[in-house]
Amino acid sequence: MTRLIVFLSVLAGLILMLVLFTFKTLPVSNEKFDLQKTAKEFATHQELVKEITSPKELEVVSEVAEVEYAPVVDLNTPELVAGNKLFGQCIACHGKGGEGKPSQKAPHIGGQYDWYIEKQLTDMKAGARINVAMNPIVKGLSPADMKAVAAYVNKLPWNKEAYIAALKAKK
Ligand code: HEC
Repeated sequence: MTRLIVFLSVLAGLILMLVLFTFKTLPVSNEKFDLQKTAKEFATHQELVKEITSPKELEVVSEVAEVEYAPVVDLNTPELVAGNKLFGQCIACHGKGGEGKPSQKAPHIGGQYDWYIEKQLTDMKAGARINVAMNPIVKGLSPADMKAVAAYVNKLPWNKEAYIAALKAKK
């Protein structure tokens, strides 16, 4: 009987030691909560969010939104007529022929597949593709608008020289 009691108390002692040892190795952070530091970090974060979401290039766009130009695309369907009108908003950055502008970091889109353009616009509006420059523009485009402008851009000549040649040929 005494042996059993001794055995059990040794066992209990061992378990106790094990538990105490585990507690000792638990990481403890005594760093105090710093309200000022947190407030500063939050302000920096807010600034970053503002920078990411603010429509910086909007003024550039509205200036040229109504630009008139000779389209090289035959506007022989109502969709192309609508697309031509909508493309007025894109020229400031992508150029009349959709040739793109390095100064705006806007890529060449003239002649691109219509389904690809439509998908990019849809993704940008949905937030799946983030494009700060185009944010304010895609907001105002309906699915039908995207389809129309995509159809129009697809009909633009693929390269700048071809666009200029097509413009000359029209005159
Ligand atoms: C304020 C400038 C600006 C305007 C206006 C603008 N875009 Fe863009 N667009 C950009 C920039 C910059 C990119 C590149 C974005 C990136 O790096 O992801 C881009 C990318 C695109 C792409 C993706 C190209 C690719 O190869 O993936 C398409 C399509 C596009 N624009 C179509 C349009 C259409 C259509 C309009 C008019 C309705 C328009 N954009 C108006 C600046 C603009």
